[in-house]
Amino acid sequence: MAQERIISGVRQDVDREFDFSLRPKTLDEYVGQDQVKENLRIFTEAALSRQEALDHVLLYGPPGLGKTTLANIIANEMQVGIRTTSGPAIERQGDLIAILTNLDSGDVLFIDEIHRLRRAIEEVLYPAMEDGVVDIIIGKGPGARSVRLDLPPFTLIGATTRAGMLTSPLRDRFGVISRLEFYSEVELKVIAYRAADILNIAIDDEGALEIARRARGTPRVANRLLKRVRDFAEVRADGVITGPVAKQALTQFEVDDLGLDRIDRDLLSTIIEKFDGGPVGIDTLAAVVNEEVDTIEDVYEPYLMQIGYLQRTPRGRVVTRRAYRHLGLKPPGLKQEDMF
Ligand SMILES: Nc1ncnc2c1ncn2[C@@H]1O[C@H](COP(=O)(O)OP(=O)(O)O)[C@@H](O)[C@H]1O
Ligand SMILES: [Mg+2]
Repeated sequence: MAQERIISGVRQDVDREFDFSLRPKTLDEYVGQDQVKENLRIFTEAALSRQEALDHVLLYGPPGLGKTTLANIIANEMQVGIRTTSGPAIERQGDLIAILTNLDSGDVLFIDEIHRLRRAIEEVLYPAMEDGVVDIIIGKGPGARSVRLDLPPFTLIGATTRAGMLTSPLRDRFGVISRLEFYSEVELKVIAYRAADILNIAIDDEGALEIARRARGTPRVANRLLKRVRDFAEVRADGVITGPVAKQALTQFEVDDLGLDRIDRDLLSTIIEKFDGGPVGIDTLAAVVNEEVDTIEDVYEPYLMQIGYLQRTPRGRVVTRRAYRHLGLKPPGLKQEDMF
């Protein structure tokens, strides 16, 4: 399923330039996540006044909620540089050691998708995070010896969609662990407005609300919907994103009034029609809908669970009555005439 998904929180090529121009630069500009923001304000101010590096921070939550943005904001608030890499990009221990030894004092090292670091590489991080040192092996065979290097003080910021996949020795070395939540409709409306303003897009209150409502609690989705709706408004209307224009556009793009698209609906109706509403194991489900297990777990399920359409049980995935109703299907044990 390589097709681009308009309502996916996962970063796609089309988001690249867009993401960058729309990223808030300070905690004040960062909408929502009040608890996380307040904690970070306290920790950054305290570290700044002690002239220390900030403690290591782990950010986790579904794609598109603002983890990368927040990592950059933290570096900005701490007035330090940021070096960005990702779990899968680091192939050898030496790559990570080179990055660590080249940091300036106080810098942030941001490792995206940190749950995908190889174990051997992860082991370099333990002494680095805890004691500010790395051990390097010089030479080969019987003559090899280990040399310990001191690192400049630094802050590791890790981001992951899967806190559960982190090993406990790694997780335990983060002083701050923050979970990002889905955003409210009001917050997403503010985000859509802000983005429209930056991009010079004409939008009214109702238009922004319509986009916020269908953005699956996810800023990246709100921004992407905004862009698509703008195209529609320019071609099929007079360029202004009003409520009715946004509604028409999103119907055209098959994004329904809850922000579900055809693939979400397929997933739910497959469980209903082929597995009697569940429980069905994730591997079976993935095979039937021809999708990766990881993608289902990271991208589709969090929002479907958040709105109470899907449950994870020990025996597998189960669709709720609400989902039946949303799809216009009869929940089990209910007479057709009682349905609506
Ligand atoms: N709290 C927020 N306020 C405003 N815009 C946000 C916020 N969080 C995310 N965004 C927007 O959403 C986009 C995706 O955020 P990003 O940090 O890349 O998400 P993640 O790293 O969690 O996948 C960013 O380009 C930014 O424009
Ligand atoms: Mg990111």
